[in-house]
Amino acid sequence: MKITNENIPNHIAVIMDGNGRWAKKKGEKRIFGHKKGVKAVRKLVEEASKLKVSFLTLYAFSTENWDRPENEISTLMNLIVMSLDKELNTIIKNKIQLRTIGDIDKLPPEVKNKLFETIEKTKKNKKLILTIALNYGGKEELTNAIKRISHKVKKNVILPDQVNESIINDHLYTQNLPDVDLLIRTSGEQRISNFLLWKISYAELYFTDVLWPEFNKKDLHQAIINYQNRERRFGKTSEQI
Ligand code: IPE
Ligand code: IPE
Ligand code: MG
Repeated sequence: MKITNENIPNHIAVIMDGNGRWAKKKGEKRIFGHKKGVKAVRKLVEEASKLKVSFLTLYAFSTENWDRPENEISTLMNLIVMSLDKELNTIIKNKIQLRTIGDIDKLPPEVKNKLFETIEKTKKNKKLILTIALNYGGKEELTNAIKRISHKVKKNVILPDQVNESIINDHLYTQNLPDVDLLIRTSGEQRISNFLLWKISYAELYFTDVLWPEFNKKDLHQAIINYQNRERRFGKTSEQI
């Protein structure tokens, strides 16, 4: 089966998992897997852009990942800075706009600065919106939104009865992103791990055993073909579709 160009998911989100296990399989340290994982990201972005995906959102560091060993965290942070540095020209050349979601303030200053620089230099690009989730947690996102809405309610800027889905959306990190159409998770785990809770409410979920560093163009195609063969009913009956 081949991909049909008319039904490319508008927003693909990816839980890139399995770097550590891939490295272990090769008898290497976990960080070796993360480095190879960055290369897989590069290939994914390139292919998603070719396929005219409009939004690609990648889970790079969760609010729970702070519980990992300190040296793994710092190497991951360095890798983020190095990769953004290395890829900046390609990102610009390919008209990709970089965005982030998550509590960016808690990231090390070098990471924050590099992110701000990349966001600023790519903000006018329209070909592909690439969003990196960093220090992102779905529960933290919702808690933060509720807190900010509560303050506005207290100040009478919003009345309690006015709180609706659109107001909640407007207080999320993901406020300017459309709902996710296809969520891919690699490495055989079948869980959400606190990713994008609000925006995946009607996403098609796709799980593959492939470990993230080995995820390639063919795997992306397979995920999209699988998606294209599903019937998205959104609560309606088959006959209504
Ligand atoms: C995903 O790979 C990358 C991050 C969470 C940063 P893991 O590091 O979780 O790899 P496994 O799951 O231990 O194999
Ligand atoms: C989810 O992967 C987070 C990222 C991919 C950044 P984890 O490997 O941290 O998730 P769990 O621990 O398996 O749920
Ligand atoms: Mg993992």
